Amino acid sequence: DIPSLAETYKDFFPIGAAVEPNQLNGLTAELLKKHANLLVAENAMKPASIQPTEGGFRWDQADEIVNFARANRMQVRFHTLVWHNQTPDWFFLDAEGKPMADETDPKRRDANKKLLLKRLDTYVREVVGRYKDDIRSWDVVNEVVEPAEPDGMRSSDWYKITGTDFIETVFRAAREAGGPGIKLYINDYGTDDPRKRDRLYELAKTMLDKGVPIDGIGHQTHISIASPSVDNIVESMKKFRELGLDNQITELDMSLYAWNDRSDYGAEVPADVLRRQAERYRELFDALKANKGLVSAVVFWGIADDHTWLSTFPVTRTEAPLLFDKNYQAKPAFWAIVDPSKLG
Ligand code: G3I
Repeated sequence: DIPSLAETYKDFFPIGAAVEPNQLNGLTAELLKKHANLLVAENAMKPASIQPTEGGFRWDQADEIVNFARANRMQVRFHTLVWHNQTPDWFFLDAEGKPMADETDPKRRDANKKLLLKRLDTYVREVVGRYKDDIRSWDVVNEVVEPAEPDGMRSSDWYKITGTDFIETVFRAAREAGGPGIKLYINDYGTDDPRKRDRLYELAKTMLDKGVPIDGIGHQTHISIASPSVDNIVESMKKFRELGLDNQITELDMSLYAWNDRSDYGAEVPADVLRRQAERYRELFDALKANKGLVSAVVFWGIADDHTWLSTFPVTRTEAPLLFDKNYQAKPAFWAIVDPSKLG
């Protein structure tokens, strides 16, 4: 019998995992119950899952996760109210069925923007109203910053049609519907990168100055065995804390390959690679413990290596980014952050 990960970290932060509803049984469910005290929906709480057609809300998948969490005394994080992916097209079509982003007439553009913000407001009040008592932390917007763009904002349909107004609208609607008890996050990847971090900081500051109710930054933390440095990860969080914002690690995993490496270890991942992964996980968790309070949650993007988005991204190959292997056994990475004396 091995120690519980969540128990090991109970004085620091809850330990979460992203799941699909169809994983909530068998050995995966056993692992989750033992090692996690927080769940996130990998896909089931995205707009495409919850409101595939206008007015056609579907709660079955999201409810399964909330019910499993409740039955097992786990918290839930919400991912995500707004994203440029996995959002049904109908959001962005005008009354005549034309893409709003293509509209050039200023009066029609204005009407489209109002309609889109109204759809967003309706959506958010419905979703937050339903889950506000079950879900404390919410990803309100996901991946809105893009430092390579001239104005530093991702050129999504949301942005093309409303500018940054969708951000204000969604945060304000979420706060109104959920009250002060829910915590509202901007979530993004690569937040350790100084350019991304600084643009995100600027956005958060501008919004906070306008009274937009942002509580924290979600750092996805999809990292690799080679980069970024733990120092950069921690420095970025400290910078957001200066704004009075909370930090959460929301999608942690660690690819076995450096960022531009397209090779494949095949069936057997070399032991020294798993060992290096373990050392890096240890370095990260040591830094989080040394900076107690810097993050209020750590969520892994999955639980065992049998199910990870990385096995098909950026190419289809053997990946093993999590703490448990594809047979649900604890890896060196698990022992590195739970009991390094067992590493040998
Ligand atoms: O639901 C359909 C299914 O009906 C169909 O048969 C199947 C065939 O491909 O596709 C299924 O949809 C897939 C969906 O996951 C559910 O499995 C999509 O193709 C696939 O693109 C989708 O991928 C998800 C991805 O977000 C979408 O961008 C991953 O599971 C999910 O892990 C990933 O999560 C994102 C976070 O939300 C944001 N941060 C990055 C992270 C990793 O990309």
